Amino acid sequence: MTKPKISIIGAGNVGATTAYLMAAKELGNIVLFDIAEGIPQGKALDMQQASHIEDFNVSVKGTNNYEDTKNSDIIVVSAGIPRKPGMSRDELLANNAKIVKEVTLNAIRYSPNSILIVVTNPLDAMAHVAAKISNFSKKRVIGMAGILDSARFSAFIAQELNVAAADVDALVIGSHSDLMVPLARYSTVNGIPITELISKEKIDVIVERTRKAGQEIVNLLKTGSAFYAPAASIMEMIEAIVKDKKKVLPCTAYCTKYKEDNANCFIGVPVKLGKEGVEQIIELELTQEEKDDFNKSVKYVKGLTASAEKFLQDEKDKNNVSC
Ligand code: NAI
Ligand code: 2OP
Repeated sequence: MTKPKISIIGAGNVGATTAYLMAAKELGNIVLFDIAEGIPQGKALDMQQASHIEDFNVSVKGTNNYEDTKNSDIIVVSAGIPRKPGMSRDELLANNAKIVKEVTLNAIRYSPNSILIVVTNPLDAMAHVAAKISNFSKKRVIGMAGILDSARFSAFIAQELNVAAADVDALVIGSHSDLMVPLARYSTVNGIPITELISKEKIDVIVERTRKAGQEIVNLLKTGSAFYAPAASIMEMIEAIVKDKKKVLPCTAYCTKYKEDNANCFIGVPVKLGKEGVEQIIELELTQEEKDDFNKSVKYVKGLTASAEKFLQDEKDKNNVSC
């Protein structure tokens, strides 16, 4: 049986950690690409040498040549600049839009039938850039953020209750920003709603910490941002796709509408992930307050997306003038 081929573009902290987690789970043969010479090759070699100890039998190839990514089933876009303390994800827009555009163009040239998983920030807008540049069907362009934000919400709930994190099923939808929407009403501990276990005041504190969880790590690290939980989140998406698991996971997907409201943007919602990519978008019943918060998120993403569009247009105009 042929193994799936998974290419990761951007062999930094997130990309390389994802490659290692996937290799250990034997999800497929892995190609690690980066523009930095030697980095993907060195990291791939290091991982191959762990294969004896970890007992995995997949190949991990490091490269600076897009041709090596040819015929990938999945392309992960984790190339770009991470945040520094004091920076918002949005401040990465211009630099990272340029990188995501270049990476997408190169990757799809060799893998026109792949599924794109976008990780680079600002996430919701970068998913839009990848979709626009690739012109792929929207079900084959998916952003990673909701699994991470929900895992953080779960971890904080588990800490508060002193229970196993695996027993907590928490859900965050909306944008990957301070305007994300943690849904306490849809969060449970082995089926028990957290609203029955934790006071409203404490839930509010946990919700606020979840919204700022990425920044909390950036402030501690001082250089770079989180990568262990992000990599585990990407791995969960890839496993769902290559094993056609039909798993329901919060991901950034293109929604024309969500319930009766127009969305027309990439935004975090629960989706069914399988071999086709986003096989279904699950529409949740939301209270008016939740809906208002979700709509704020949508408005924010539309603003970011418009800035990304303007940036792409300016680049195009600049190139036309210089021709
Ligand atoms: P990193 O700095 O460790 O790695 C980024 C890598 O991208 C570097 O190796 C760099 O050489 C490479 N790169 C830059 N330009 C490139 C290009 N044109 N082509 C190919 N490779 C290129 O950063 P890290 O921590 O891995 O984060 C990567 C991105 O993912 C950042 O934008 C970060 O904000 C984002 N991120 C998003 C998360 C999410 O939940 N969506 C979670 C964590 C990170
Ligand atoms: C995070 O939330 C950097 O977006 C990334 O950690």
